[in-house]
Amino acid sequence: MAKHFLTLLDLEKNEAEALIQRAIELKKMLREGTEHNFLKQKTLAMIFDKSSTRTRVSFETAMVQFGGHAIFLSPRDTQLGRGEPIEDSARVLSRMVDLIMIRTFEHEKLEKFAEYSQVPVINALTDMYHPCQLLADVQTFVEHRGAIRDKTVAWIGDGNNMCHSYINAARQFGFKLNIAAPTGYDPDTDIMQAAGDIVKLTRDPKEAADQADMIVTDVWASMGQEEEQKQREKSFKDFQVNASLMACAKKDALFMHCLPAHRGEEVAADIIDGPQSVVWDEAENRLHSQKALLELLYNSK
Ligand code: CP
Ligand code: NVA
Repeated sequence: MAKHFLTLLDLEKNEAEALIQRAIELKKMLREGTEHNFLKQKTLAMIFDKSSTRTRVSFETAMVQFGGHAIFLSPRDTQLGRGEPIEDSARVLSRMVDLIMIRTFEHEKLEKFAEYSQVPVINALTDMYHPCQLLADVQTFVEHRGAIRDKTVAWIGDGNNMCHSYINAARQFGFKLNIAAPTGYDPDTDIMQAAGDIVKLTRDPKEAADQADMIVTDVWASMGQEEEQKQREKSFKDFQVNASLMACAKKDALFMHCLPAHRGEEVAADIIDGPQSVVWDEAENRLHSQKALLELLYNSK
């Protein structure tokens, strides 16, 4: 059976650690101009039911750098978009391509697809999780500050797909996670409970940020929640990452955001564009960490 990456928990802890080191190594190889045609003549199918800039470009570029090819599939012009069953699409695509990446709404759709796929399936974001982003975030922390184990990360804002992946990352990489979310926007209870006491939830962003090594946030309304934007602006108004919140964290705390960002909403412009922000390295690392992921999954086929 193929090895899938539907959540971070699909990796063994040592695999996850090794993946980060490999991502750093692949980045260095690329900088030095070392060719690595690891997926020569191999194909990655990329199914996108939601928009993307970073995920699409990083996976497509990863395949080119590996000597392979990526196929972009949108529901507008595939039979999946016209209702062909997920099971059938998975069986057909996985007889032709070597790896499959999916960005969609329901996590269950991804799980069903993986169940019927002969080749590795990668979660490129669902309503529940965004594990690829966490590989890049952890890589970025490690590059700037060394080991993330036993460090404290503060998640400020929505208990959304990114927050859920942060909870899983805290388990996998051994850091503490303080979550500050307004009432009604808590992360999933089961995901929280499974993490135990390494994850704490509060209503007070300053309490979460206190002495943190890193502050991270995300948009207040995720893809598919556009009509809730106005309500969410009200609910989250006290959850902006700004200078007074950053001042609660350690002096050398990093700021991360998966992007796209809304300056003046979840983050103040002087923070995302300021000296503590590593969001551009974070975005670039999508490429390197996903190359490490493609290697790991393909090798374990
Ligand atoms: N962070 C992220 O996944 O960005 P895209 O939506 O542009 O892919
Ligand atoms: N939570 C955001 C992440 C975007 C990369 C969303 O799902 O829209």
